[in-house]
Amino acid sequence: MTLPEIENQAEVEIVSAQTRPELDVLQVKYLGRNGVINQFLKGLSIDELKNQGGPVNSVKNKIRAIFLSKYAHLNSQETQKKIDVTTPGKLPPIGHLHLLTEAIKEIEDIFTRLGFVRRRYPEVETDWYYAEGLNIPKDHPARDDQETFYLNQNVVLTAHTSNGQLHEMELMKKPPIRMINIGKTYRRQASNTHNPMFHQFEGLLIDKNINITHLIGVSNYFAGQYFGPDRKTRLRPHHFQFTEPSFEVDINCHICNGRGEIDCKKFQVCKAGLLELGGAGMVHPNVLKNGGLDPQKYTGFAFGWGVERVIMMKHQVTNNLRELYTDDLRFLNQS
Ligand code: FA5
Repeated sequence: MTLPEIENQAEVEIVSAQTRPELDVLQVKYLGRNGVINQFLKGLSIDELKNQGGPVNSVKNKIRAIFLSKYAHLNSQETQKKIDVTTPGKLPPIGHLHLLTEAIKEIEDIFTRLGFVRRRYPEVETDWYYAEGLNIPKDHPARDDQETFYLNQNVVLTAHTSNGQLHEMELMKKPPIRMINIGKTYRRQASNTHNPMFHQFEGLLIDKNINITHLIGVSNYFAGQYFGPDRKTRLRPHHFQFTEPSFEVDINCHICNGRGEIDCKKFQVCKAGLLELGGAGMVHPNVLKNGGLDPQKYTGFAFGWGVERVIMMKHQVTNNLRELYTDDLRFLNQS
């Protein structure tokens, strides 16, 4: 065969090959050690080799290029065969925000609708904002109840979001003040209903002529929006140093509807049909003074409620608040 005949024949065979194994055989046939090209070279005399070397190489390169393009063609055909465009797609797993983040956003939305402004005040706080400025003097027995982490004599990991009250008065300087401070708080406690780190949301409303009915109205609005219609709050007398009068705010349990049935006891947050939201009261005149406001002119209410607790109360997803801090997806996937 002459060189052009070899080239022609190779091209015809390569182009008509249907599979990669067929091509492999042809590659050996033409370009292998004992292949057609090498046989052709062996048949040449030394003089012929001098003249034919270049043309042989060029034919070899052309045949190689035809092989390459045919391999590429067969590869893409095979890939296309494997893709069945009619197969239904697979949805990638889609996550959602953590239960706590969802609750914080929801709480913020509810109070924003009432004109409250979202704030974040320090978690690491001085004793003044945390306690003394809130009418809890250094030697006061009320401090004995507090299971607090002091970093030094004057600096503390805040155990409630009430430290935001004085910051807010200083920031705004003049009422009306409508703050919702949501943040992390710390106490030396650990049980199914207590975590050493937890979240509180603190409301503060100060203006002229604010009274307890406003506190009740805002509490009921929150209960209805967050827990659902027909949920009402109830004030129970209590004591806090920074409010006077002070209350604990409870809401009726939606499982037993406030009847306190035995069945409901499996949810430890229900006590005799009532769920405890947290503390509240009318801002103490001393606290208003410490915040630079005239208690003769202004009055206000404040409340501080636990985020983890309201999640437990709303969803009844667990009796153990600490599960919110695990990485167990079976629990966290509940939303
Ligand atoms: C206070 O912290 C007051 N500062 C609330 C307040 C604010 C009263 C403004 C008056 C005016 P108390 O210690 O009761 O109150 O805590 C409030 C809520 O925080 C509790 O009802 C509970 O929901 C939550 N809470 C308290 N300790 C923990 C804890 N260790 N883990 C999870 N939640 C907690």
